[in-house]
Amino acid sequence: MKVLSIVGARPNFMKIDPILRAFDRRPGRFESRLVHSGQHYDDAMSKIFFQELGIRQPDVYLGIGSGSHAEQTAAVMVGVEKLLLQDRPDIVLTVGDVNSTMAATISAAKLQIPVAHVEAGLRSGDRGMPEEINRLVTDAISDLLFTPSRDGDANLLREGVAPEKIHFVGNVMIDTLLRCRDLADSSEVFKELRVAKKGYALVTLHRPSNVDHRPSLEKLLGALNEIQQRLDVLFPIHPRTAKRIAEHGFQPQVDAMKRLKLTPPLGYVDFLALQSHAAMVLTDSGGIQEETTVLGVPCLTLRENTERPITISEGTNRLVGSDPERIVKEAFDILDHPPKVGRIPEYWDGKAADRIADVLDCVIP
Ligand code: UD1
Repeated sequence: MKVLSIVGARPNFMKIDPILRAFDRRPGRFESRLVHSGQHYDDAMSKIFFQELGIRQPDVYLGIGSGSHAEQTAAVMVGVEKLLLQDRPDIVLTVGDVNSTMAATISAAKLQIPVAHVEAGLRSGDRGMPEEINRLVTDAISDLLFTPSRDGDANLLREGVAPEKIHFVGNVMIDTLLRCRDLADSSEVFKELRVAKKGYALVTLHRPSNVDHRPSLEKLLGALNEIQQRLDVLFPIHPRTAKRIAEHGFQPQVDAMKRLKLTPPLGYVDFLALQSHAAMVLTDSGGIQEETTVLGVPCLTLRENTERPITISEGTNRLVGSDPERIVKEAFDILDHPPKVGRIPEYWDGKAADRIADVLDCVIP
């Protein structure tokens, strides 16, 4: 079976790695190639993940770079279409919900090449989020839908997807987390950043709705200012957010916060180590809501909604929105009354990629 897998942005890399490994464990059956669109191109957003996770080098790098949504989507579609016409794989595999995911899916579907989408069925119900549009389009035209949790199956069925296309396989991102836990245990990052285990809050912010508009970013920085009065706050900063802080003139405010430590984006292993030993994590990322659930670390999600409700119903996640008073109150509440550890969702067990390979083996001739 010729499988062409497509990745483009940071959160794709830890999802594709276990799947490529599962294919490699079945060498007579899968002939797999990897395409990197180049949506993320900085070493800290891309190369380091290939190095640390030992992901095979992409067979093709499209180098599309940054741009508007339409520009990025179009560039990936054109690049992927050319490859598909040359390569004619039996199936295209896409992961996650970034622009590269949707674009590659459209190109393949138009050429009548079957698409398997990993992390299907997640819905925030918020079409103001670019990822929600990507999820809806990708799932509507994919042929095999691999869901990470049963709510994904329910969402797809409600949208009229045929049940035989849907396969609940679990969470591939957790396959990578479990494989890398030992590596994270030996990380030197605590010494390098001079923080004590359990003595800091870890922050990530990059959603356009939080960082692009001046008033939203200002409010969130205000909340971080309060929180850093009580403990160290580590903030590995996404390039989008770094740009906005500079553009909106917030650098002096950031510099004035004595216990706020900004770092460039970190590699997978150091970031996993920091998540594992954080007093709490504050984030607007999707994947981090899942990782903190498995690690049993309290997570405050600074958004109004989540496409990953299982991290709230079973895990350690709380949706707190973007009101600074609420964020600070919830953060202090975690410090004063450490919450109970949640439960690990079904099939978030390190074997999701093997389930995917098994399904493909069964359904593709
Ligand atoms: C993208 C995904 C988002 C994912 C996030 C993870 C979409 C719509 N969004 O958002 O779902 O959560 O990745 O990081 O696909 N930039 C760099 N270096 C890079 C990449 C980007 O400096 O290597 C800067 C550029 O100025 C770019 C901006 O960051 O314009 C945003 O990058 P982009 O890929 O458009 O979106 P993200 O915010 O990273």
